[in-house]
Amino acid sequence: MAFYFDEPSRTFNEYLLIPGYSSSECIPSKVSLKAPLVKFRKGEESALSLNIPMVSAIMQSVSDDRMAIALATEGGLSFIFGSQKIADQAAMVARVKDYKAGFVGSDSNLSPEMTLADVLAIKAKYGHSTMPVTDDGSAHGKLLGIVTSRDYRVTRMDGSLPVKEFMTPFDKMIVAPADTTLKEANDIIWEHKLNSVPIVDAGGKLVCMVFRKDYDSHKSNPYEMLDDHKRYMVGAGINTRDFAERVPALVEAGADVLCIDSSEGYSAWQAATLDWIHGRYGAAVKVGAGNVVDADGFRFLAQAGADFVKVGIGGGSICITREQKGIGRGQATALIEVAKARDAYFEESGVYVPICSDGGIVFDHHMTIALAMGADFLMLGRYFARFDESPTNKININGNYMKEYWGEGSARARNWQRYDMGDGSTGLTFEEGVDSYVPYAGSLKDNVALTLAKVKATMCNCGALTISELQEKAKLTVVSSTSIVEGGAHDVLLKDKTSYGSSPIR
Ligand code: IMP
Repeated sequence: MAFYFDEPSRTFNEYLLIPGYSSSECIPSKVSLKAPLVKFRKGEESALSLNIPMVSAIMQSVSDDRMAIALATEGGLSFIFGSQKIADQAAMVARVKDYKAGFVGSDSNLSPEMTLADVLAIKAKYGHSTMPVTDDGSAHGKLLGIVTSRDYRVTRMDGSLPVKEFMTPFDKMIVAPADTTLKEANDIIWEHKLNSVPIVDAGGKLVCMVFRKDYDSHKSNPYEMLDDHKRYMVGAGINTRDFAERVPALVEAGADVLCIDSSEGYSAWQAATLDWIHGRYGAAVKVGAGNVVDADGFRFLAQAGADFVKVGIGGGSICITREQKGIGRGQATALIEVAKARDAYFEESGVYVPICSDGGIVFDHHMTIALAMGADFLMLGRYFARFDESPTNKININGNYMKEYWGEGSARARNWQRYDMGDGSTGLTFEEGVDSYVPYAGSLKDNVALTLAKVKATMCNCGALTISELQEKAKLTVVSSTSIVEGGAHDVLLKDKTSYGSSPIR
């Protein structure tokens, strides 16, 4: 006879936190959101930690190199999508690792023969007033001089005057060599009262620029996710088919952590993938696995050597797995059971395997509830897809800006490996995800700051200054359907329906 779970399958929306005692120490500025990313032994620390408990989903419409840089800047981590050619994915990883915060490629460049009129046109187009002059007018040509607004007076000079006549020539410029650190570049900027300093290679070619304002904004990112060489950290998705080629390419490109991306992780294919990676790299390559929704699935992947385990089947906003296949579990119930299994496994083995709650976060407060229920960190797709930094188009629909967002199981993504049934087929037989729009929401930085302000405030209400303290102290209650209505603005007429969240899409 089939096994029946006693508990119904519940979502985050069916739970609320009950406030606990907040001491005078409990203030948001003292809250730490640091979270372990990979497994560790009792008494030790995780070899990799997140500074905020957020990772972006392994999806074409969410995690490319631009998203990875933006999220690492704020303290989280992206897993670059694996449903692309190995070389393309490795190139995205390499671009994140090569990115030097504060060092920017110059997009407004001049050749000596261009004119003052050209300078004004470029300034109007890009809004930049600092323009390097190179022999061929390119961003990496031999540096011959620089033009800033201090070099010309529009009212006194003719528009046809060539740049070489009024630029500050190379021998009067302050430049820095290619191995300059951001801190050194900033010292040069201050010492010589400059707004920028060009970085030049041994052959005199322009490499990039450091601007005073970029250094200032870089300093305002205290949570940046940096590796031992001060490069941004980045993850990458892999599958259970081509790992023998994909993993070495991603490791070579510098990926800090990998994750097997599959709709169903309780499988022999996942164990074989983990085996192969550990056989070749030992513990040097960290790799998460999933997804699972119960204790059996967790234990299987923990024993197979997963560095973290991802929880969730069928709860994603673009997911139609439950409708198509009748399989999955309410995200809250899945998480509660897997968190218990993780704690039991820790008790008996002394190894703590972090769990990631993947999908189904609709409101900001769902993040706090998921953390309270035992998630070490959260994977989000829809949340990040709405931001400037996601890879998709921003489209105006009936006067509202939207971003495109499609599932990895949709015909558009063609990610058949994620739904691989092991029978050798190389195509999707039926879709498990949709192609959709989500409301455009602006920059990642602003939104993450607002979301985390809410998370920290709630943690203080529960008397917790860390995520593990929240997990110990949290008191949760199931809500009735009537009390869900009570939880939103009710029995009033809203003046502005867009300003307060009666809409489920945020
Ligand atoms: P969201 O944050 O609710 O949008 O969920 C994102 C998660 O949905 C991803 O991290 C995946 O685990 C999952 N997912 C991505 N694409 C699909 C799909 O096409 N079908 C089902 N689940 C998907």
